[in-house]
Amino acid sequence: MIFRQLNPHSCKTYLIGPEGSDNVVLVDPVLEHLEEYLELLRKEKFRLTYVIDTHTHADHISGCSAIKDLTDCEYVMHTTAPAHCVGLRVIDGFAWHIDGLPINVMHTPGHTVDSMCLILPDRIMTGDTLFLDDGGAGRDDLPGGDPGAHWESLQRIMALPDDLVVYPAHEYRGRTPSSLANQTITNPHLKSRSKQEFVKYLEELKLGPADWMKDVLAANYACARDPKAAWVPVDAPACEVQGTLEHGVNDIQVAGIPAAELKWRLDAGNAPIILDVREEKELSGELGHLPGITHIPIGSLAKRLSELEEDKDKEIVTVCRSGGRSHTAAQILMQAGFKHIYNLDGGMMNWNKHGYSVEK
Ligand SMILES: [Fe+2]
Repeated sequence: MIFRQLNPHSCKTYLIGPEGSDNVVLVDPVLEHLEEYLELLRKEKFRLTYVIDTHTHADHISGCSAIKDLTDCEYVMHTTAPAHCVGLRVIDGFAWHIDGLPINVMHTPGHTVDSMCLILPDRIMTGDTLFLDDGGAGRDDLPGGDPGAHWESLQRIMALPDDLVVYPAHEYRGRTPSSLANQTITNPHLKSRSKQEFVKYLEELKLGPADWMKDVLAANYACARDPKAAWVPVDAPACEVQGTLEHGVNDIQVAGIPAAELKWRLDAGNAPIILDVREEKELSGELGHLPGITHIPIGSLAKRLSELEEDKDKEIVTVCRSGGRSHTAAQILMQAGFKHIYNLDGGMMNWNKHGYSVEK
């Protein structure tokens, strides 16, 4: 069997086909990598028969709709998928044979209503229904998510042959695919629990805010063709992190400020302007915020620079959760001519790790 994972980042796109055949299918392609996929198909003389989304994605724009139009393949999703551009809508138990290679569909709602797993003879592509090891599984708190349904889906997966190797749609830390038998030991989502206990367990995970993910979902419902159709925060646990920056911003070098130094400045009454670029909800979240902040979410910073016009020559420290978004914010400010910009090292996570006080 031909089985390749095509992306360098945490979103996984798989190319599958029977050995010795030109016919292949593509699972969960990312729009941003469209040209690379097309180039691979051309180079290897593959004929793409189906392009499949295991579910409506919330962290990247799907490449399926564009690929469908540029090749003569069929776009496949579960019958409940909201995207209007899907050509073939499949149900639980549907099966293909690609030149003898069977691919079976199992509808596994929970992460989304349209989630499905693809079962091959020796492996299972679990989408976001099941990740690897302590990665657990995709979140169930987005529109269409249902923790109780997710529990039922996981029970069905666990009833499958336990030597099937798990290939999820995401892997953030380079974990190696392993069998369902192994996952029942290493994956906390598969711990033996009642449905009620599972729902409670998910509630207690207290995942961060996900407003930007709702925008990405909406873009995929609408079959968006622009990889930047929805904004993804630069330090989000997502596939694509380029955000919506102007050309050249990424090359600007930013100076950091250690948490200890900022703390010392605050204590001495000599605080710089602190610009927190997180989303509104994050300010009152677990990590809290620093005193006296100016708040402009990163997504609207470029549009709201005029609000900081008087501070152009003052010292500004940019802050976010882990230092990613605030790094981008610092670059945006420096490109706009701000002179004394520093990025808080490690963001609010690092600040909290030092045990420094925060406001909530
Ligand atoms: Fe997902």
